[in-house]
Amino acid sequence: MSFTLPNLNYSYDALSPHFDAKTMEIHHSKHHAGYTNNLNTAIIGTDFENKNIKEILTSPNLPTSIRNNGGGYYNHCLFWEILSPNPNNASSDFMNLINKNFKSWDSMQEEFSKAAGTRFGSGWAWLCSKDGTLSICSTPNQDNPLMLDGCGGIPILGLDVWEHAYYLNYQNRRPDYIKAFWNLVDWSMVEAKYQASL
Ligand SMILES: [Fe+2]
Repeated sequence: MSFTLPNLNYSYDALSPHFDAKTMEIHHSKHHAGYTNNLNTAIIGTDFENKNIKEILTSPNLPTSIRNNGGGYYNHCLFWEILSPNPNNASSDFMNLINKNFKSWDSMQEEFSKAAGTRFGSGWAWLCSKDGTLSICSTPNQDNPLMLDGCGGIPILGLDVWEHAYYLNYQNRRPDYIKAFWNLVDWSMVEAKYQASL
């Protein structure tokens, strides 16, 4: 099987002013396309050729190129899905779940933003579900919570904190980019991913 760069459900300029059009275009059509193409090249002639992306990411002894590009492929697919120019609020059920796991909505956002802000170098912040319990973690590079040395949760929300995700618009101001991200999170999609994780 080979992997395909997914189309976005919105135009490159739709998330402006929070995420600018030029960054979105380069991020999707160059960076995500690059991970997708490199993953397809890396799996040719290997045991990974007939596996889906979750089977690949949860395999032991991943070769570096498959780990990096498989993670990059999967992580960006999830990232585009949970963003929206017209994001839905969380349902009262999901708000209750957040309150139960993090004391409050604000403390969940604070913990996630801290994970994203303190990730040294390139990586991701995640909200994960494990047996219905929510937790926050971060991973370096294009690693993913699903990987065998990950946190063991299923990611339902992710934030890319590679400089390629924000540098054109925010330069070194990663905290401003993280703050802007919250305006774009489609909580109905996050909740759907939570339900699917159960
Ligand atoms: Fe990225």
